[in-house]
Amino acid sequence: MSRSTVNHPAESFERSARAYEVLVALNRAGSRRLVRSLPDEPYGRVLDVGCGTGFATMQAVARGGVNEVTGVDPAQAMLDVFTQHLSAHPGIRADLRAADAVSTGVPDGWADLVLCTMALHWMPDRPAAIREMARALRPRGVLGILAPGQGHDRPTVDIIMATGDAEVIRLADSIVANEIPVGWLAGVLGEVGLEPLDVWSETRERVVAPDAVADRMDAVATHLWADLPEPAQHDVMARVRRVFRDAAAPDGMYRYRFVKTFAVARKPG
Ligand SMILES: C[S@@+](CC[C@H](N)C(=O)[O-])C[C@H]1O[C@@H](n2cnc3c(N)ncnc32)[C@H](O)[C@@H]1O
Repeated sequence: MSRSTVNHPAESFERSARAYEVLVALNRAGSRRLVRSLPDEPYGRVLDVGCGTGFATMQAVARGGVNEVTGVDPAQAMLDVFTQHLSAHPGIRADLRAADAVSTGVPDGWADLVLCTMALHWMPDRPAAIREMARALRPRGVLGILAPGQGHDRPTVDIIMATGDAEVIRLADSIVANEIPVGWLAGVLGEVGLEPLDVWSETRERVVAPDAVADRMDAVATHLWADLPEPAQHDVMARVRRVFRDAAAPDGMYRYRFVKTFAVARKPG
């Protein structure tokens, strides 16, 4: 696997793989809701695109009936954690590949279920990635996507912009760039020949310790500063941490808004 830029998102996940699942616990709750929203059908073969540690697939495994799993993610350290999770299920045949979403390597029509949770926003060509997911699905197969939604965490974007700190502002730019509106996603699903069954957004107003937000950024966004010398990277993360601490309410807690886009679609057949 080769990467063209030092600021590839997979850099963040190579670093955070061990701690990832604890630091993004609230992302995992979204994946759980997505998997619970899938049509109640057997899914023997699962393709997980941008699989990370495989959290979404493990939710599908818990539903039962999964016997083959392909996971695709450029971050090998995340795949290593996924391998550990799957080791508790020796009956499941697994193929975890360090690769990009647009080259999953599975045959046409291989998958009963394709999952892509909290990863589409990191993919440089999102329509191409969704086209590849559609190609991998068998007729009547199901696709489930979870991604940050429109207006995701705009209060945080405003707070970061107000600092005027160009390096910290990279985080605000990334939060905005990561938005995937439901209307856009429904349109692309149609363009690649899938029938959207349900595409929706959920908004949660959250009250958390400021360091918990900073820790999550540490898990998912360090690649934004990967072009800087190591000490400067630590320094910018310390400044990010300070932004959240300074923005805490008198009760010491930080309030933010998490908007998520969900999609469940079916390949006609
Ligand atoms: C926030 S994690 C989500 C992981 C997992 N799906 C979950 O729900 O916990 C995002 C993942 O997307 C992966 N990723 C980034 N760019 C990618 C790309 N171009 N193709 C496939 N995966 C990518 C990262 O390496 C990372 O593991």
